[in-house]
Amino acid sequence: MAEHEHTTGIEALANEQRTFPPTEQFKASTLVAGTQLYEEAAQNDEAFWARQASELVHWDTEWHTTLDWQLPYAKWFDGGTLNVSYNCLDRHVLAGNGDKVAFHWEGEPGDKRTITYQDLLDEVSQFANVLKGLGVEKGDRVMIYMPMIPEAAVAMLACARIGAPHSVVFGGFSSQSLADRIDDAEAKIIITADGGYRRGEVFALKPAADEACEKTSSIEHVVVVKRGGNDVEWADGRDHWYHELMDGVSTDCPAEPMEAEHLLFLLYTSGTTGKPKGIMHTTGGYLTHVTYTHKYVFDLQPENDVFWCTADVGWITGHSYIVYGPLSNGCTQVMYEGVPNHPGNDRLWEIVDEYGVTIFYTAPTAIRTFMKWGADEPDKHDLSSLRLLGTVGEPINPEAWMWYHDVIGKGNCPIVDTWWQTETGGIMISPLPGATTTKPGSATFPLPGVSAELVDDEANVVPVGGGYLTLTRPWPGMLRGIWRDPERYQETYWSRFPDRYFAGDGAKLDDDGYLWLLGRVDDVMNVSGHRISTTEVESALVSHPSVAEAAVVGATDATTGQAVFAYVILRGGADADEQTLRNHVAGEIGAIAKPKRVFITPDLPKTRSGKIMRRLLRDVAEGRNIGDTTTLADASIVDELQSKAAASADD
Ligand code: PRX
Repeated sequence: MAEHEHTTGIEALANEQRTFPPTEQFKASTLVAGTQLYEEAAQNDEAFWARQASELVHWDTEWHTTLDWQLPYAKWFDGGTLNVSYNCLDRHVLAGNGDKVAFHWEGEPGDKRTITYQDLLDEVSQFANVLKGLGVEKGDRVMIYMPMIPEAAVAMLACARIGAPHSVVFGGFSSQSLADRIDDAEAKIIITADGGYRRGEVFALKPAADEACEKTSSIEHVVVVKRGGNDVEWADGRDHWYHELMDGVSTDCPAEPMEAEHLLFLLYTSGTTGKPKGIMHTTGGYLTHVTYTHKYVFDLQPENDVFWCTADVGWITGHSYIVYGPLSNGCTQVMYEGVPNHPGNDRLWEIVDEYGVTIFYTAPTAIRTFMKWGADEPDKHDLSSLRLLGTVGEPINPEAWMWYHDVIGKGNCPIVDTWWQTETGGIMISPLPGATTTKPGSATFPLPGVSAELVDDEANVVPVGGGYLTLTRPWPGMLRGIWRDPERYQETYWSRFPDRYFAGDGAKLDDDGYLWLLGRVDDVMNVSGHRISTTEVESALVSHPSVAEAAVVGATDATTGQAVFAYVILRGGADADEQTLRNHVAGEIGAIAKPKRVFITPDLPKTRSGKIMRRLLRDVAEGRNIGDTTTLADASIVDELQSKAAASADD
């Protein structure tokens, strides 16, 4: 066996050669242009994190132990106390920045609000007093089920102020999902809204909150923000209007110092099977991690930057890079309520120009959608305020990266492809934009302070080629467990490889030491004994000029074990036939990866957070009936794919 062949055999097929060093112009004002942070962290990662914690975060009491690591349980900054809402609000106001804009908020119908740090501090303090008045105490769990309105951030920060862990449930989830999470967390209160705006219409939230209350027994109060203006049912004594509760309440609510390991929030994430896991994040380590990564990955210049993360607060990205990281750094942000195509396909670009957004952070699935809509949409706008672009959530195909770079960034903006997870709390693998030469499609290197290695099936370290991505050292933002399920915590993350956190992702290391994420290992295909990553075949398809988006799955095949099935969305106005696309993949990465079938489709089944549901595509490809589609963003697309598959079986 050659030196770098390993028994995972996730084959590393694609070979992207383009490189993008930081421009001189970018380097001139960047926070980090060299390797000093990497060197410092490599010397002693604990000391490195301790320095970040003391420089970036305000502590009421110093910690005595930086890290107490009893695998798989970490305690960071033990003995220290701090308040997250003080760090996000009070300290900026006390420093004289009360008039600085925290949020430029825009509703989907076009209504706008400008919220300063002083405004936010006052409203959070009032609402914290309201929560106390409703009997919420330190340690009580609070559900938040809201549209993308400023009150969502207010609710989270008010909980943090009084030490009541929140659990935000994305507004697109059903009453059953909400009820399951309420039960698991034994939450006392729900904060919701009558409804919010989406695609030009009001979608109701309150009825789902009502149903969830009926299905569960722990909720004592429901606080309702008036946003949609839709009619709602009312349970007297249980339900309260937010604006009525807030009326006349004092803005004085001193932030109470919390222990560093006090539970800040639970965020439920679905596993591949079974009930959702309540991922636990605590106070001091999490705040240190998100403040540090928000500052250095986005090269933040808080005086001038206008930061826009397009995620929803219902996901970890919204927690870490809309609420906690950016506010802790005292920066100005844009927050937008609605969809990117209302009223037109250029809504986001209109907003970028309106507020002079300098840093834009979105998901590859959104970028591929913009590609499908065509460059004409962003080209209607100036976009010259942008100086840095970011992506998160999935591997980004090199061609989507290039499109983002050329069409949105006009060739002038570095791109930070940030790999992380709900469980990691904050960004783990990413370029530092002033220091790292990027390659389209690679998340590049672990950040200073983060240690990652690839291993094969026998846990041997893989120096070059494909393997399983593992983390070898604890980090401050790491999950502290799964709520009330320590066994599942151990089993899910710490049992596959000894002494390593296994993230569930495959990756490869190229000859220059760059990391390329290859997707979830559950998605790896096995064709004639070769393990091929769906990501690489998808990227090969997207590199064809007619293709905007592709999803690839392995379906059972009598001859080859699995065969590659591809589903492809074409770019606006483009044309291509199946044979051409099959040959294109063979030409790009080799005949072994040539799809057996390529289906052209107008859309793909995605979860509400935009991840492609490969399980469903596999069911379609293997001719199975589709089971539960309730977590799908648009269930009708599956019917369409099924009828295509049936028609092609008749061919
Ligand atoms: O598979 C990886 C993918 O998203 C997973 C984590 O999903 P979630 O917990 O929902 O958090 C998403 C936002 C942090 C990872 O296991 N993923 C995330 N970012 C990237 C990525 N895959 C490749 N490249 C990325 N930049």
